[in-house]
Amino acid sequence: MSNTPSTIAPNSTAGRDVAYCLHPYTNARAHEEKGPLVITHGQGVNVFDDQGKSYIEAMAGLWSTSLGFGEERLIEAANKQMKELPYYHSFTHKTPIPPIELSEKLLSMAPVPMSKVFFANSGSEANDTVVKLVWYYNNAIGRPEKKKIISRIKGYHGVTVASASMTGLPANHTDFDLPIANILHTSCPHYWRFGQDGESEENFSTRMADDLEKMILEEGPETIAAFIGEPVMGAGGVIVPPNGYWEKIQAVLKKYDILLIADEVICGFGRTGNAFGCETFGMKPDIISVAKALSSSYLPISAVMITDKLYQGIADNSAKIGVLGHGYTYSGHPVCAAVALETLKIYEERDLFGQAASVGAHLQKGLAQFKDHPLVGEVRGVGLIAAVELVQNKATKASFDPVGKVGTYLNERAIEEGLIIRNMGDSIAFCPPLIITMHEIDQIIDRFRRALDKTLDWVKAEQMI
Ligand SMILES: Cc1ncc(COP(=O)(O)O)c(C=O)c1O
Repeated sequence: MSNTPSTIAPNSTAGRDVAYCLHPYTNARAHEEKGPLVITHGQGVNVFDDQGKSYIEAMAGLWSTSLGFGEERLIEAANKQMKELPYYHSFTHKTPIPPIELSEKLLSMAPVPMSKVFFANSGSEANDTVVKLVWYYNNAIGRPEKKKIISRIKGYHGVTVASASMTGLPANHTDFDLPIANILHTSCPHYWRFGQDGESEENFSTRMADDLEKMILEEGPETIAAFIGEPVMGAGGVIVPPNGYWEKIQAVLKKYDILLIADEVICGFGRTGNAFGCETFGMKPDIISVAKALSSSYLPISAVMITDKLYQGIADNSAKIGVLGHGYTYSGHPVCAAVALETLKIYEERDLFGQAASVGAHLQKGLAQFKDHPLVGEVRGVGLIAAVELVQNKATKASFDPVGKVGTYLNERAIEEGLIIRNMGDSIAFCPPLIITMHEIDQIIDRFRRALDKTLDWVKAEQMI
């Protein structure tokens, strides 16, 4: 029996959605009342709903559609590969050709020397793979007690069991019986929010590194295998690392022989104005995970790159056991890999990473205008990723209560204005496709301003400020 409420016509697209679909990252009860925004097609940085209304997709979907919505070359690449070999796997000494070419290309682009590439289908699967490879490696080289992985509060690494455990957000743990054992979370490096009175940004970074070292010493360095971090934290609120942060964190990791995993699922492929976030922030990882912009998200594909040191341990162990007992039916799917390869070619031909730096500067400058707005506590970002955090009190930085109510209201006003952004609580994220133009950024800023001012009127009317 359908539980569609009467306000949504049962046989409409929205009604059928409410009747049949359980949505990811959605309040299911609220959805029964509200129904979905049905997106039917897209062009460039715009998407269109089933009523014909257009929206600038200022989140590139889920931080991911770097080439926007109408890249014919990706469609052609998929079509060609579909005709040639629509599916084959990479198990048991077999392979189609595209994942070989894609691996070669990824290794040539890697920010530090990497040796091998392992393919999966999503960021979550890539990070679950990383956890398993780290455990396998440490068993292989005879240190079975060195297994714990340190992530960060507000870090986001996905939703599969190990990845969700590494994610440092309560909604991903509550009532899922997570995190699993051996996953720890250290301090969140958000200087504006967590810096102490009079503490410089550099000193705050030192404190973050001290917190990490304290955790390592408390747990015992011989039990800590790896540290995972996004160069810029995305879903946790677009948190750009404070000055000196990665340098100080890496010094601690080196001291205790702990691997660094760079989760480049959002930052990878131009987002911060360089090919990888690791380059922007001087990170020298042992493992890198990528997804999303790897294929401009036209097809699902993710990858894990590992150094030769890790590869040698893993290879020896697979020889000892007889097999590397890990892999997905779709690891290195030929159509996904062909589309990813074409995506990487397009980035290079159009210098889209350089463009992200220059157009990104325009976005950051445009958003900086809102620093003086009565609702805005902080404007932060780098390259083509940014956030505006709303506060109830600018002087004390106090958040609205409950957090997210005002952000959600603003999000809805933005939709009315033809702008798709994303509120993570009261932090409003911007992460447009890399192909966005200066003019389209100006449109984002104009639409956002109108939505923000309407929100201010409402907040005042409700006496929340
Ligand atoms: C940094 C980061 N890692 C991992 C993931 C998980 O990727 P997926 O949703 O493809 O599983 C995400 C998704 O947003 C992400 O932002």
